[in-house]
Formats: sequence, structure tokens, C-alpha cells
Amino acid sequence: MIAAVLNLLLNWNLAAADLEKSGKGTERSIPEPGELLRAPLFHTPRNPFLHDRAMECHWDGGLLIRDGRVAACGDFETLRTANPSAMTTDLRGGFLLPGLIDTHIHFPQLRVLGCLGRSLLDWLEECALPEEARMADESYARQIARGFVHALASHGTTTALVFGAHFAPATAALFEAGRASGLRIVSGLVMSDRKLRPELHQTPEAAYRDSSDLIRCFHQRGRLLYAVTPRFALSTSEAMLEVCQTLRQEHDGLRFQTHLNENVREIAEVAGFFPWASDYLAVYERFALGGRGAVMAHDVHPTASEIERLAAGGTAVAHCPCSNAALGSGLFALKRHVKAGVRVALGTDVGGGTGFGMLKEALHAYLLQRVAPEGALVDAAQMLYLATRAGAEALGLENEIGDFEAGKAADIVYIRPPVDTPLAAVLERVESPEQALAAIFTLAGAESIQEVRVEGSVVQK
Ligand code: GUN
Ligand code: ZN
Repeated sequence: MIAAVLNLLLNWNLAAADLEKSGKGTERSIPEPGELLRAPLFHTPRNPFLHDRAMECHWDGGLLIRDGRVAACGDFETLRTANPSAMTTDLRGGFLLPGLIDTHIHFPQLRVLGCLGRSLLDWLEECALPEEARMADESYARQIARGFVHALASHGTTTALVFGAHFAPATAALFEAGRASGLRIVSGLVMSDRKLRPELHQTPEAAYRDSSDLIRCFHQRGRLLYAVTPRFALSTSEAMLEVCQTLRQEHDGLRFQTHLNENVREIAEVAGFFPWASDYLAVYERFALGGRGAVMAHDVHPTASEIERLAAGGTAVAHCPCSNAALGSGLFALKRHVKAGVRVALGTDVGGGTGFGMLKEALHAYLLQRVAPEGALVDAAQMLYLATRAGAEALGLENEIGDFEAGKAADIVYIRPPVDTPLAAVLERVESPEQALAAIFTLAGAESIQEVRVEGSVVQK
């Protein structure tokens, strides 16, 4: 293994030179019969929480891309022999992972990052909502949207389920920025009619009209999808939740996102607003707001019954460990969710969280499980799954993205630490692929994301 790693490092400069030749920052059209990327690669075509040896690693790996799709994934020499005319791009010196998938993040909260020291409801009032109100200014929203999609791409995120703004033009600005970036953006107008601040409230009628317009403009256009997005039960009346239900009935393929069971004070206030509901999840269930393609963020304080019902309905949970720690929301019961069969993916929850890095988020899933009572021991394969394939499953996109199986879209992140960084030093010494992957999760930030592709085309260099 050490020899293999030395070989890897010897090829470091070669790989850098090849990248130079390939034309920085430009979209590459891939000539038939395809491009063969050569680098160590990892992916999780199966769920490592349920299956042994679910992660596939090819240390001298090959990824054959044709027409934006993965044509084959395996050992480089085998693929080169079978595809002698494919153009080889030598990326040794770095590592290939499937594009990262963030299943919970707020676009208007980019400038809220770092507002620490408060719990959810105070944080909303003092940090998040004043900035979200600024999204009424369309040109400001456009500026933030551009920075937001750039931050996603520069951290290796190729797909994100995003809370839009409370204003339709600002939400449209996010979709436009997403379209221009080439990323896969799933988002929607944030719907609320109480408890926030008056300028963030819409009537259910206006929310219905604006959402319908946005769906017509952006849903299933290129790589964009629309998600019906009530902020949380606390800020949405029954009439507003009914609008959400109607929208889902009226349009095929919509996703759904909201918050669930994040904070004990929030949960108590929700119980006061919906006295007929047996628990928080029952509020959404009354309006059929769950099931496949629905993602509930947090679920830090679930009852046993809620976990069972999430699993039975196929509703996914976006686990946001950095946010849960930063807002003091609590420790996520990963083992209970996984054991019951709930789909769990990862979200950065910018700006309640601590940044855009999905690798960092996966590391914090590991760290917080280490200190949680009855915490799970999350290994590198599980971290990779949470940051990639689990997100695809949560969004109902597992046939399209999330791993390198043949036929999937070639959404790729190429990780190569700059020389003289701790990660580069650690990778000189690793003795197994799993160690290399764990080191990447521990140490790789945006500086180590060298290239990002969606459907084979470079979106970030
Ligand atoms: N619950 C309702 N809105 C929010 C939000 O913006 N962030 C988080 N973390 N929780 C919420
Ligand atoms: Zn959130």
C-alpha cells in the first residue's frame, strides 16, 4: 500500500500538468468514445448501514465518462484495455468521489453564518429573520444567490435541497443562479403566515399563486426541481399547510421540505398551536405532507411513534450535526433512526450550521455520535454514503446520481490537497484506502476541492 501511495505522489505533478492542459474553468465537450479519468476512487452503491462491504474503492481507479454519464467504473487498466480509444485524463495525486449532496440549506442565510451563542427561536429572531427580510430587495437577493451557488460548488456540492426566500423574485433569483451554475438545485418559496415578522408573511392565497408561478417557471427545467417549502409548523397555519397539500396534488414530481422536532421550546409551541395533533409529525401528516421525496430537517427530539411513521412513509430526515451543536438543539439519535429504517441524509443547514462543507458535516456526524449517549460509531464508508448516495435517496434521485454505477450522471468531485498541507502529509502515510478516505473527511476543506463536474462538465475549478 505504501508503494501505491508513493506512486500516487510521484504522479502528483503529472496530474497537475494534465489538469493545466485540460483548460481551466472551461466546459469540456467529451469526445466519443469517452474520457477515462484515472485516480483512486470511492463510492457507495449500497447502504453501508445495512450491508457489509457496501463501499467500492478502486485504488488505481478508472471512471469512463461518455455523454455526461458514467459508462463504467473499475480498475483503470481493465477499463483502458476494454476502451483503448478513450482519452485518458491522469488525475493521480487526488481522489474521485461522487458529487456531494446537501439535503438541508437556506439560501438567504449565507451572511448569517457565525451568529453563534443562541438557541433556535432567539437565533431566528435576532440573526436569521432580519437578513431574510433583506431578500425583499431583488438585486440584493441576486447578489446573494450568486455567492451561494458558488459556495456550494467550491465545496464540492453538486446537488442541494435549498430553502428559498419568503419572496418569489428572490426565490426565482436562486433558481436562475442555479441554472447558470450548472448545479442541481431543488428549492421553493418559503411559506409562512404567522410568528415571524410581518414582512415575511404571505396570505395562503398569495403563497399559492407565487408557488404555482415558480413551479411553472422552474420545476423540471434542466437540472432544477421545485420543493414545496413551509418553513415549519410554528409559522404556518392550517390554511397554509392545506395550500402545500394542494400544490403537491396539482403537480407531478414536486419535492417537499420543512423542519421537524428541532428544539424543545419549538416543539412545545407547536403543540400549543395544533392541540388536535398527537405529536409534531402528526401536523404534517394531517395534510399528507410526507412520503418519498419529502425531507424533514433535524428530528432531534422524536418520539418512538414518529420514528416508526417516518420509516413507514419513506420520509427522509436531513441530519444537520453542525447546526444541532451550534444552536444547542441536541444530539441526533442516528442509531434509532437507522435501526427503524428511516432514510437519513446530511444537511449543512447554512446559516444555523457552520459552513458549506459536506465533508466537514460528515465528520461532525461522526464526532457527535462519538459523544452521544448510545451513539453510533460512524465509519468512513458511512460518512461517504451520508454525504452522497443517502442524499440521492432522500430526494428520490438515486437512479440518477449519488454513486458511480454505470448509467448514472457523471457528477464528480475531485479532491487533491495542496502541497504542504496536513492532508497531503497524512496521505503520504496512509496504509489503507479507508484511512485515506477518513483523512479526507477529517482534513479536506474547500482548498482541497480541485474540480467539480456535473454530468461530466466542469462547473468549478
Ligand atoms: N426552523 C424554522 N426556520 C429555521 C431555520 O431557518 N433554521 C433552522 N435551523 N431551523 C428552523
Ligand atoms: Zn433549516
